[in-house]
Amino acid sequence: VKISYVSAEGAIDVVDAEVGDSVMSAALRNGVSGIIGECGGNNSCATCHVWVREEFLDAVGTPGEIEADLIDMGVSEPRDCSRLGCQIVLEDKLDGLVVDLPPTQP
Ligand code: FES
Repeated sequence: VKISYVSAEGAIDVVDAEVGDSVMSAALRNGVSGIIGECGGNNSCATCHVWVREEFLDAVGTPGEIEADLIDMGVSEPRDCSRLGCQIVLEDKLDGLVVDLPPTQP
């Protein structure tokens, strides 16, 4: 599945990811800057924060409880479309996903 990561400066990294990868792990493996993934995908560091483009919000779904708390407390600019990249597991229906990266991670 293809994912596009749009940096705060507007640069776009398009990555070919595997189903089962997460938005965080696919970014790290492909050298996308702007996602850190410090906790390794354990839903505890919030350094994989992304903003999901509106047209994909339904397909991506809403954050779980722990994730939502982390977003509220831990990211620099929480929005309704905020998700933690490690908690978005890629499936075929997410092909073409576009996420925006915040200017800073915690
Ligand atoms: Fe730490 Fe996502 S990688 S919360």
